[in-house]
Formats: sequence, structure tokens, C-alpha cells
Amino acid sequence: LPPEPVTTGGGPGPSLRASVPVTELRGAGAPAPGGTLRQHVLTARTATVRLPSGRVVDAWTFDGELPGPAITATQGDLVEVRLRNADIAEGVTLHWHGYDVPCGEDGVPGVTQDVVAPGADFVYRFRADQVGTYWYHTHHASHEGVRRGLYGPLVVTPRDAAAEQLNLTLPVHTFDGTVVIADQDGRTEHTAPAGRPVRLRLINTDSDPHRFALAGTPFRVAAVDGRDLNQPGEVTGVALRLAAGGRYDLVFTMPDTPVVLVLDNDRDGGLWLRPPGSPPDRSIADPADWPELDLLRYGTPAAVPFDPDDADRHFTMVLDRGVAMVDGSPAYAQTVNGHAHPSIPDQLVAEGDVVRFTVVNRSLETHPWHLHGHPVLILSKDGVPATGSPLWMDSFDVRPGEVWEVVFQATNPGIWMNHCHNLPHMHQGMMLRLRYD
Ligand code: C2O
Ligand code: CU
Repeated sequence: LPPEPVTTGGGPGPSLRASVPVTELRGAGAPAPGGTLRQHVLTARTATVRLPSGRVVDAWTFDGELPGPAITATQGDLVEVRLRNADIAEGVTLHWHGYDVPCGEDGVPGVTQDVVAPGADFVYRFRADQVGTYWYHTHHASHEGVRRGLYGPLVVTPRDAAAEQLNLTLPVHTFDGTVVIADQDGRTEHTAPAGRPVRLRLINTDSDPHRFALAGTPFRVAAVDGRDLNQPGEVTGVALRLAAGGRYDLVFTMPDTPVVLVLDNDRDGGLWLRPPGSPPDRSIADPADWPELDLLRYGTPAAVPFDPDDADRHFTMVLDRGVAMVDGSPAYAQTVNGHAHPSIPDQLVAEGDVVRFTVVNRSLETHPWHLHGHPVLILSKDGVPATGSPLWMDSFDVRPGEVWEVVFQATNPGIWMNHCHNLPHMHQGMMLRLRYD
């Protein structure tokens, strides 16, 4: 039997402060009133898998599937996932990317739990209070484990979700140089009657950004990193850049002509939606030259739950590449403020603090920045303020030379990883810890 979860419902009290080990900051023991218990078992194992292209790859999988089984819930449900490790010799954990679980459920080996070795298991429980598109992946040796397939979608829908909507969850992943975008059945063609509402949930599970373009229909970006935008307007003829680890929900009404989701300007490798009976129209517009939609100026401003200009803490992170001490000797590393993990000083915060980050990329590579346990509100890029909908992200691309200002409120006690989601970069040192004091 798994250990009884410690119920933290009712909000953190003084007893949750530094004296409580993070391993005891566990999720709720029961669903919200009206919610149900959603139990899953995910078995991590090696498998030989056939990709939609017909290609066969040696993968590390959950339940032998690529991507792993979708974990779905309705808001308020209790999600309980038993992770078993069959034969992944390196060990495995589950991290709920973008989902603000209590720290003890966060899946960081050596911090929130021990790594799950072959033959062992670990039970995760959390209440699905946040709706939206997320994903899960191993957080152990993740530069290798995620690339080989240890990931899957996590989608939480509102209780009143419209049932007649066509909902496609589309993780993008590169296997040995071949980019795959497909739903759970591996299909890249779908039919939908004209007039049907469609939601595409895009998830970038790679370590590099992808470019998407939706041709054949106007659409809205309804959500970024799982969080709804405020009054997003209809757009057309624009492309979208999605950071490693990030998600976009695109919504539109199916027209009576085909629609294609083009990935990385490859029209032939796109995902097609057609009204029944209509032939695939390959003459659809070529979006290769479309400009990128600027999400910092998209949607409508709205109030946020704290004053972003009144920060209690301010941390600057300068991202670069160079020589740093790694395991006691100098090595080439991906660095934050000149240091590499585990020698980067922890960021200390107190519960309730408004915390500001300035992220400066002084290197020649893109760094998709990811904080665990909290979404951050984007304030500005290169000194130009964000003027659209409040933009909450958990994975944002800091390109070479860019400076981003972001802010969040420290409302989820624990020890949280703060890192580059280019997983080889993270492995090479670009990771630090944010810790509640
Ligand atoms: Cu998606 Cu620390 O990871
Ligand atoms: Cu990086």
C-alpha cells in the first residue's frame, strides 16, 4: 500500500513552513465535491514502437506507447497515478509540467522523492484544480529519457465543457531527426463537419522551438501554457512559435473547406482536417513567409491578483555558456550567473512574496525558461512592456540577446527547480533551485 497522503487542503498554515520536509507536501486525499477519483497505472518500459511514418524505433515508453497514455480529468477530480518502473535501468519519475501540484508530487529525484528504480513504484496524487493543456515526463536523466519517449499529455477540462467540440491533443516530438505530430492514434488526417468547434492542443515535447501555422481558417489562441487568454482576437496569416515545453490551444470553427496545421513550414508533414467528402486540397496557402504572432500584444488587458510593480524579491539570471566548476573541476557548462548546477546559489523566497525575475540571454543559443510550481506573468521583453492579455507562462523562449522581465507570487511552498527546458542544457548545468524560506 502507498503511504497515506498528507492532506494539505484548507491552505498552507504556519506548520507548512521550513520545518516540513518537501516530501511531506503531498496532494489532497479526496476530490472536490462532485469530482471523481481518476486512477491510472503508468508502467515505464523499453519497447520497440512503430511511428506513424512506419519507421520503427527503440524507445523508452509509458505502457509501450508513444506518446504515453493521455491523463485526462475534469476540474475537481482527484488524479492518482501509480508509476511503475519495469526496466528503465537509469530510473524514472513523473513531473507534471506546468501543473502547480504540491511540492511532494513534483517528481524531482533527490529533491521531492527518490528516483523510481526498476521493480519499484511511486504513487502521485493531486487535485485537478487547473484546467488546460499540460504534459508529464520523467525528470530523471530527462535529456535522454524524454527524447526517447518518457512523456505524455495531461489535459484537464472544465465541468461545463461543450461535448460536441472536436478536441485533438497533439504532442510534437522528434525521434532521431523525424518530427512527429499526431494524436494518440497516430492519425494525421481528420474529418470534421463544417460548423463544428475545434480545439487543437499543441504540446512541444522537444528541446527546441517549433513553428506552427494554421492555414485555411481564421483562429484564436485560446490558451498559452494551459492558461486562458483574456478575449483573444481572431487572427489569420500568422505563424506561432512554441517554446520547448510550452503549449498552445488553438480554437476555430470548422469551415466547409480543408484546414491544415503546418509544422516547421513542411506542408506535406502537416495535420489535415477536412469536411466529410471534400478532397484534400493541396493548393492551400503556403505559410512559410507568415510573420510570427506577438503574444505580448495579443488579447485584452485584465486585472492580475497582485501588484507586479511592487515586488518583494528580484533575481537576475544571466544565461551563458562557459567554463564553470562541475563536480569540483572546471568544465564547459551552460551557466546561470557564471555558475552551473549544483553550484548556483538557491533563490530564497517567503510565502506570499511577489517575486520578479530578469532573465538575460548572453549566449548564442535559445533558452526556453521553465519554473516549476508557479506560472509567471510576462511583463516585458527587451524593455518593451507586454500590453495584451495577461500572459501567464511556464515555458518561455529567451532568444540570444533577449532580456525578459517576469513576475509571480510565491504561493506554493517547497523547493522548486528553475531551469532551461532545452534538456541537454539543463543536463549541462543550467538549473537552480527556488526555495521557500
Ligand atoms: Cu518539464 Cu523541470 O521540467
Ligand atoms: Cu538552454
